[in-house]
Amino acid sequence: MACRAVSLRFLIPKFASCVNRGNSGTIPALIRKTQHTRNSASRHRFSSTAAKPKKETITVHFVQSDGSKFSTTAAVGENLLDIIIDNDIDIDGFGACEGTLACSTCHLIFKQEDYDKIPDKPTDEELDMLDLAYGLSSTSRLGCQVVLTKDMDGLQVQVPTAVVDARDPS
Ligand code: FES
Repeated sequence: MACRAVSLRFLIPKFASCVNRGNSGTIPALIRKTQHTRNSASRHRFSSTAAKPKKETITVHFVQSDGSKFSTTAAVGENLLDIIIDNDIDIDGFGACEGTLACSTCHLIFKQEDYDKIPDKPTDEELDMLDLAYGLSSTSRLGCQVVLTKDMDGLQVQVPTAVVDARDPS
């Protein structure tokens, strides 16, 4: 019995005085109350209904060089390189410099209407790198430099037929 009292005292020190006074009849009720409070707190802490800012997403379509298509949803604020990596889209050599604007392997071609929706115009550094990309067009951008906005929902990008890594000596 002494052992039981010690263990209860350890578990719920707040109610230890009840045990000391021999008032052990109230212990099961106190334990139930404590467990209920703890479970209730856990439920609220991990509840999916708790107010949480929801990320806005849009749909993006990729057309591979062989004509196959892949569509996915992506969060506004992500860039196209991140989306390709996150979705394990297999494009040989794509994103070799991991978005440091040093390779041009993330070259993508946009439809004119989608190109016009990209809010950020290419920087001089991006244009220099694009000059080294394979199959450059007037609507080409580097995927690592294109950040998605809500207006770009339904965006379709074409993956060029070849990838050139500007860092490779030729
Ligand atoms: S990933 Fe290398 S320039 Fe975009």
